[in-house]
Parts: sequence; C-alpha cells; structure tokens
Amino acid sequence: MKMKRPTGFLTATFKPIILVVIGLCFIYMIKINSDFKTCGTRRIHDVDPDRAKRAQKYVEKVLQAECRPSFAKNKMNKLFMNKYSMDVTPFINKDISAQPSLFKYDPPFGFHKFSEKLQNLLQLLPEYNLPEDLQSKHCKRCVVVGNGRILHGLKLGSVLNNFDIVIRLNSAPVQGYTDDVGNKTTIRMTYPEGAPFSQDEYYPNGLFVAVLFKTADFHWIEAMVKNETLPLWMQLFFWKQVAAKIPVTAKQFRILNPIIVKETAVDILQYPEPQPKFWGWSKDLPTIGVTAVVLATHLCDEVSLAGFGYDLSQPDTPLHYYDSFCMAAMNGQTMHNVTTETVILQKLIKEGAVRDLSGGIYCDFCEKTGYN
Ligand SMILES: *[C@@H]1O[C@H](CO)[C@@H](O)[C@H](O)[C@H]1NC(C)=O
Ligand SMILES: *[C@@H]1O[C@H](CO)[C@@H](O)[C@H](O)[C@H]1NC(C)=O
Ligand SMILES: *[C@@H]1O[C@H](CO)[C@@H](O)[C@H](O)[C@H]1NC(C)=O
Repeated sequence: MKMKRPTGFLTATFKPIILVVIGLCFIYMIKINSDFKTCGTRRIHDVDPDRAKRAQKYVEKVLQAECRPSFAKNKMNKLFMNKYSMDVTPFINKDISAQPSLFKYDPPFGFHKFSEKLQNLLQLLPEYNLPEDLQSKHCKRCVVVGNGRILHGLKLGSVLNNFDIVIRLNSAPVQGYTDDVGNKTTIRMTYPEGAPFSQDEYYPNGLFVAVLFKTADFHWIEAMVKNETLPLWMQLFFWKQVAAKIPVTAKQFRILNPIIVKETAVDILQYPEPQPKFWGWSKDLPTIGVTAVVLATHLCDEVSLAGFGYDLSQPDTPLHYYDSFCMAAMNGQTMHNVTTETVILQKLIKEGAVRDLSGGIYCDFCEKTGYN
C-alpha cells in the first residue's frame, strides 16, 4: 500500500509535463510541415537542355581521362598540409585498442565511453575493407551523389553509373529517379534515421556505412545484423522513425571511422574542437554530405561530387531531387553551417581536388555567358 503513493504522486506530477511535451512536439511537426513541405506544389522549372548536355559531356570527359592514383589524397594533403591524415582507415576494424585517438571525443567525432559497445558490435561484423574486386583495383573513381534538387533533369544517371564507386547519402532514393541519379549504389552512408524504408534501395553487394551518434544507433545496427526487431520503446531514442528491417547482411555493414568526422569538422571546416553539449552541437556538426566527400578522398583515387549546392537565397525552391521540402528547411536547421561547407567545397573544386559534376557548388562546365 505504501509503495503505491509515490508512484501515483509521480504520475500525477509528470502527467501535465508529458502532455505539454507531446503537445509541443505536435505543434513543431505541424510547423515543419507548413514551413517546408510546400515546394512540391510550385511550378517546377524545366532544366535548360543545353545545360544538361554540357553536364553530361563534362562527366564523360572526366571518365575518359586516365585515372590518377592517389590524386585526391595528395591534393588534400597539399591543401590542408599536416592536418589531413594520409593513412586513416575509412572503416573501423577490429584492432581498435591500438587506436587511442578513436576514444578521445564523443560520437560522432569519436567513441569516447563507447569502447565496449563498439567491441560487441565489431564481433558481429566480419569485414572492414571495400569488397575485394574494388579493393584490388589499381585506381578508383568515386562519385558522392548528394541529394540536391540540382540533379533534377540533368539526366546524369547513365554516366554516374560508370564510376567505380557511387556513394549515396541517407534516404536518397534511386527507384523512380534513375534517369537523373543512376541505379548503382556501392555505398550508402547514413545514420539509422536515414536508412531507406524501401527494400528496393538495397543491393546485394552494396555497403551500408553507418555513422554512429548515440547508444540507440549501436542497438539498431545490432538488430539489423541479427534480423531482429527493436523493442518499440527504443523508437523514443530516434528523432525520426527508423526502418524495422533492412536487407543488409553482416558482411555489408561498415562503421565509419569517426576520426573522419572529426577531421571534416576540425581540420577541414575549422570548427572548434568538439565539446560535449547537452543540447547537441550548434552549427559545428558537418553534414553527412561533406563528410562523405572527405571519406571519398580517403577511399578513392579520384573524387567527384554531384547533387551538391544549396542556394539559401531561394527559400521557396525545392531542396531535394525526390521530395517536396523547401530550401527554407536548410535555413531552419540549427546543426550545420551550410555557408562554411559551401566555401570549403568551392575551395576543393577550384583547386581541383574534387570535381563538381552538376555545378551547384562551382561550375566548371558552364559557359561564362551562359544561364546558370
Ligand atoms: C541499372 O539499369 C540497367 C538498365 O537501365 C540494368 O541493366 C542494370 O541491371 C541496373 N542495375 C541495377 C544495379 O539495378
Ligand atoms: C528475417 O526475419 C523475417 C521474419 O521477421 C524472415 O521472414 C526473414 O526471412 C528473415 N531474413 C533473414 C535473412 O534471415
Ligand atoms: C557560419 O559560418 C560563417 C563563417 O564561415 C559565420 O560567419 C556564420 O555566422 C556562421 N553561421 C551560423 C549561423 O553560425
């Protein structure tokens, strides 16, 4: 009897708080929907066919030239001098105890306090390199396909398929958009909330590169590898509904080396050293997109990107090639500094370290007097 009172007391105290929190979430969701989800109804501008042709020609030219081994890495090393690490392993391997720097920062910049969870997870994952056929290739050309609207109508699909490695980000779909984005996915790089729901977006040989942010992310991967269903309550720890099952085997999973996230943030974007903050990282967190570009410089000999470039001065234009979010959503978010990222990507492209195939960051194939 006596045990009951505190419980009832607690429930009575917290009930209004819980209701308020649920109410606020609801209002926030409505706000997101009304602010950002209106661009699909606007008239979609046709892409200038001339621009599309020039883009396609440009990609063909990039692919016809001879591939230069270690080109991207050497360029990055020159641009960022001793800050760019020439020999970081892109994916975490079992030998983690030999890498103390791995545990210096909290996720996603490191695995501080996650040593045991990481070890448990790694026991389930047998591989940590590229698949053998790619690994042994003398010179690899990669393209990071961003999710930007700029891909719409450029019809780069068939040329993008000719890269050795195609890296896609988060939930970006292929099905229904193959003319513009191709149908090859060598790597999908995402956190659990970004994993596509559709089984058709996964390929038997594709790699799933996980970016880990929190404890629940470890549990999610473990569940996916074991083909188990996460308990329903665990959904609370994700900021968005996560896929319940994905057709990815243990052999296909890789864990992104968080040192690459740290390198992207601190050494390349020159953000301050990561500090644990209760409310997350205010604008000091690199996007998956720019992180994937840095990953690609470690993984591949030559690196291109496509579908990058957010024009923040056009808040009511569509953001992605596949949904109806508006550019305003990028202004509304509080984690990433898109301006800084654009400046750095421009630098990489102008210096020739990476190529911009769709011209959204810096256009190499646009005529000086042309549209764009
Ligand atoms: C991509 O599409 C081409 C035809 O357009 C097809 O031959 C090929 O099998 C497809 N590849 C994948 C991985 O679906
Ligand atoms: C995963 O589990 C489901 C049942 O939940 C089963 O139908 C399916 O065959 C399993 N897949 C594998 C690869 O074991
Ligand atoms: C983003 O970074 C730029 C410097 O590159 C700075 O001027 C700007 O204030 C930052 N924006 C935000 C919202 O933090």
